[in-house]
Amino acid sequence: MGNFPFFDLTRQYQGIKNEVQPVIQAIFERQSFVMGEEVTKLESELSQYMGVKHAITCSSGTDALVLSLKALGIGEGDEVITPAFSFFASTSSVLLAGARPVFADIEPRTFNIDIKNLETALTRKTKAIMPVHLFGQCADMEMVLSFANKHGLVVIEDAAQAIGATFNGKGAGTMGTLGATSFYPTKNLGGAGEGGLVATNNDELAEKIRLLRVHGMKVRYTHEMLGWNSRMDAIQAAVLRIKLRKLDSWVERRGQLASQYHEKLAPLESKNLIRLPENVSGRNHVWNQYVVLVENRDQVRSHLDAKGIPTDIYYPKTIPAQPVLSELGYGEEKYKVSIDCAKKALALPIFPELTDDEQRQVVGGLEVTLSQKL
Ligand SMILES: Cc1ncc(COP(=O)(O)O)c(C=O)c1O
Repeated sequence: MGNFPFFDLTRQYQGIKNEVQPVIQAIFERQSFVMGEEVTKLESELSQYMGVKHAITCSSGTDALVLSLKALGIGEGDEVITPAFSFFASTSSVLLAGARPVFADIEPRTFNIDIKNLETALTRKTKAIMPVHLFGQCADMEMVLSFANKHGLVVIEDAAQAIGATFNGKGAGTMGTLGATSFYPTKNLGGAGEGGLVATNNDELAEKIRLLRVHGMKVRYTHEMLGWNSRMDAIQAAVLRIKLRKLDSWVERRGQLASQYHEKLAPLESKNLIRLPENVSGRNHVWNQYVVLVENRDQVRSHLDAKGIPTDIYYPKTIPAQPVLSELGYGEEKYKVSIDCAKKALALPIFPELTDDEQRQVVGGLEVTLSQKL
């Protein structure tokens, strides 16, 4: 019983090893490691996959967000509205660009920015909204875009966890002015190291991002903008190209596992012992994470751990409560739903190679643990 991993890339690798090894070897034979043909091909394949004019690779998802903010000229004196519950990069990128993040609370069932809170976060300094498509489901982009249009704001989508997700048929990362995604290995489309991407339909911004990622350089050693090095490695691109061809089938299996969790955990939910994540209609969820809410989360987690059932916590703290922000005077009290989620969120294992039998053990472990009074 138990003792299987929360996430295991070695299983995935066994299925793609024969394709990966020759392309890596060819790169070593060429000794051409940065950008080049593999990167150009990946960008064109991703622009097709995502349904966007420009797909511009870079070094990480964090860089994709900073590149986006910089290309838009957002910096000192500007404010960006972003959710209080997310991975820290959705806020640190705003600070790294020199602007001030302003937080909005989230919705409890989708973990995404709550549109009702945009109005209170808005000031004369607001320049952009950065919704995060957390855990693989798009935020309410219809409402975000209509709010942004009404107030003359740009929208930068943080689609780091949501490549391939859709909102009313449109791809995550392609609906705002700019969209960022991450190829960190734990993402649904993960490389063999770090990587990221900015997506846009805007030619001028695409040109700026291409310049910013190579030290602002169009002509060699002539620097037109203050950029930095955010180029993608050929090895990353080669691995991502192979994995992109499998992505839809992997996402389909994630969807199947999510439906099975929904079905099997529904009785516990009807007894109010657990809250399951909601997949809103019209939004194709890609289930990068399956996160439930439970009371006494830390005890539940240790009980499961004792049975060899792996879980994880995304995220144990709200962003305004992060120590590095303490001097900025935010305070987390206003973000009640975020506080509640940080206390109760428990991520269950979900990855394409997780077996039905392992999933049954997770469900069984939860049934036993949640029926005890902790
Ligand atoms: C919501 C979110 N934004 C941004 C990032 C940053 O991406 P990266 O780790 O590739 O820099 C991540 C990655 O974990 C993320 O989950």
